Amino acid sequence: SQAHVPTIDMARLRKTGSERSLAIKELGEACRRRGFFQVVNHGISQSILDEVLAVASGFFDLPAREKLKFKSSDVYKPVRYATSLKDGVDKVQFWRIFLKHYAHPLEAWIDSWPDNPPHYREKMGKYCAEVRKLALELMGTIIESLAISPKHLSQKIEDGMQVIAVNSYPPCPEPDAALGLPPHSDYTCLTIVLQNSTGLEILDTEDGNWITVPEIHGTLLVHVGDHFEVLSNGVYKSVVHRATLNSERTRISIASLHSLGMDDKMGTAKEVVDEENPKRYKESSFRDFLDFLATDDIAHGKRFIDTLRI
Ligand code: OGA
Ligand code: NI
Repeated sequence: SQAHVPTIDMARLRKTGSERSLAIKELGEACRRRGFFQVVNHGISQSILDEVLAVASGFFDLPAREKLKFKSSDVYKPVRYATSLKDGVDKVQFWRIFLKHYAHPLEAWIDSWPDNPPHYREKMGKYCAEVRKLALELMGTIIESLAISPKHLSQKIEDGMQVIAVNSYPPCPEPDAALGLPPHSDYTCLTIVLQNSTGLEILDTEDGNWITVPEIHGTLLVHVGDHFEVLSNGVYKSVVHRATLNSERTRISIASLHSLGMDDKMGTAKEVVDEENPKRYKESSFRDFLDFLATDDIAHGKRFIDTLRI
């Protein structure tokens, strides 16, 4: 079903006084209800968005031998090209091809990215820097909305990781018989998604229905991830989502995944814990998530956050 997706207007969040306070309240509400919202007036120009989608498509259009240079099934690798097909492990196969690469600090990683299509590094690099700024702003504001003292966290977030997942979902002759990505939530603090067409669906936990996220030109989609659910002690929800397929055209999405550093542990903030609300999650790092990927739990539909509940 189609449903209303909350909209966060960055122009209002960037104001001062009561207008900003109201916008922060609405942001907190969106994180509490579903852990999902769309962002308008984010300040990233339409040409940057269009061009990064163009180089992303361009990469998947390359001859196989170019793409296979990056092929790897090692989840610990900073750059890798792979499919979501895992013979004999998953009960259903997932119709997705992806390229994942680390993106922060940019200077450390950009030379390991594809240099084909020719402007891939330039256009992707520009988008990564801009979307990271937006993510830092949103993460800071979400922390503010929880009334958590930002001191200890802000530096860790500033030094945190940015992983880019460039997803391609080719047309599928039987789109209803398969999925692009199974239902999951992201391990992150926050994920920002740019898509070229509809296909992303989020779970309405109240009635169990899937909600199609509309493609509104120029907007960015934000998922609250597991690590912010942990930070907030479950007050904010990491959104369960999936990618569906269509029979007509290739769908491209670019997910920018933001977390603390590889071995930095995210735990529940002391400000949200008291006698009536004891801590509900164990602390964990990005590496703990990667270790989780190697377990059978994932194939059985378990979420990372399920492994963290106390
Ligand atoms: C992801 C993801 C959604 C999409 O990469 O984690 O959820 O629409 N992508 O491709
Ligand atoms: Ni996801």
